[in-house]
Amino acid sequence: MELIENINRLKKEKNAVILAHNYQIPEVQDIADYVGDSLGLSIQASKTTADVIVFCGVYFMAETAKILSPEKTVLIPDKNAGCPMADMITADQLQKLKAEHPKAKVLCYVNTTAEVKAECDICCTSGNADRVVREAFRPEDEIIFAPDQYLAHYISTQTGRDFISWKGYCPTHVKILPEDIAAKRTLYPGAEVLVHPECPASITSIADKVLSTEGMCRYVQASQANEFIIGTEIGILHRLQKENPGKIFHPVSERASCPNMKLTTLEKVLWSLEEMGFEVTVPPDIMRKARKSLQRMIDYK
Ligand code: 13P
Ligand code: SF4
Repeated sequence: MELIENINRLKKEKNAVILAHNYQIPEVQDIADYVGDSLGLSIQASKTTADVIVFCGVYFMAETAKILSPEKTVLIPDKNAGCPMADMITADQLQKLKAEHPKAKVLCYVNTTAEVKAECDICCTSGNADRVVREAFRPEDEIIFAPDQYLAHYISTQTGRDFISWKGYCPTHVKILPEDIAAKRTLYPGAEVLVHPECPASITSIADKVLSTEGMCRYVQASQANEFIIGTEIGILHRLQKENPGKIFHPVSERASCPNMKLTTLEKVLWSLEEMGFEVTVPPDIMRKARKSLQRMIDYK
């Protein structure tokens, strides 16, 4: 296909690497050099030797790549690909919350803006939140956990820690309902139910396993089970099926589709490489402060 040939030619010419999140459309996943979760993508961005990173995901992810690799040119093929959850808390709101709890340490989900990351002590992803909470804080620490109330709740059940949590949520994961799981369990009684920790407690409490997207990919490969019901954004089914051709996957709900993750297309990836757009930039003082909390996050991989 000419489009793919042109992308590959420009990638070579510009010494670019294409990083794609597990929720990207199949064609974009298939041309990427690396497909993964937020944690894996951050690690790749921090260690790449490429000059240019084309980030196929949502804005906070591309911004994270820029902060971790400031000397690289980071491009996002569609600058409107935001994450509504990341926009549910502003730096001003976090500052206010910190003022109300002056002794609290601040843990931010990576799904936040760079300005919010600059206000926190450490970031986490859904892949390492449990470890960060257990290892980066003292037992007596008060912890603010923002912005995802459901991730905070789930990690609280795993670690026994209480959090001062913000009321943010992922509009895509809240579309997954308990009755969707019940219906799929009736249809596929032998299948294991894997869900993402951004799902509400009514979902995480009835699933067989609660895992980040990369956690799901690893779990499925190692599992003896043959059939799975997947409770997260539907884009991940492409990777699961590709890596496990002998296994069967069913989405819990087709409604769990993140419109922002679907904005990136092959045509936009090509445009991005041709025009070197849209370049992601972060003000230097924000960059410096946010890098500290992100660097601490990837120390807990
Ligand atoms: P992962 O870190 O599990 O890839 O999740 C990122 C995200 O945005 C989930 O909605
Ligand atoms: Fe944000 Fe949810 Fe989309 Fe992930 S799936 S990018 S948390 S809106």
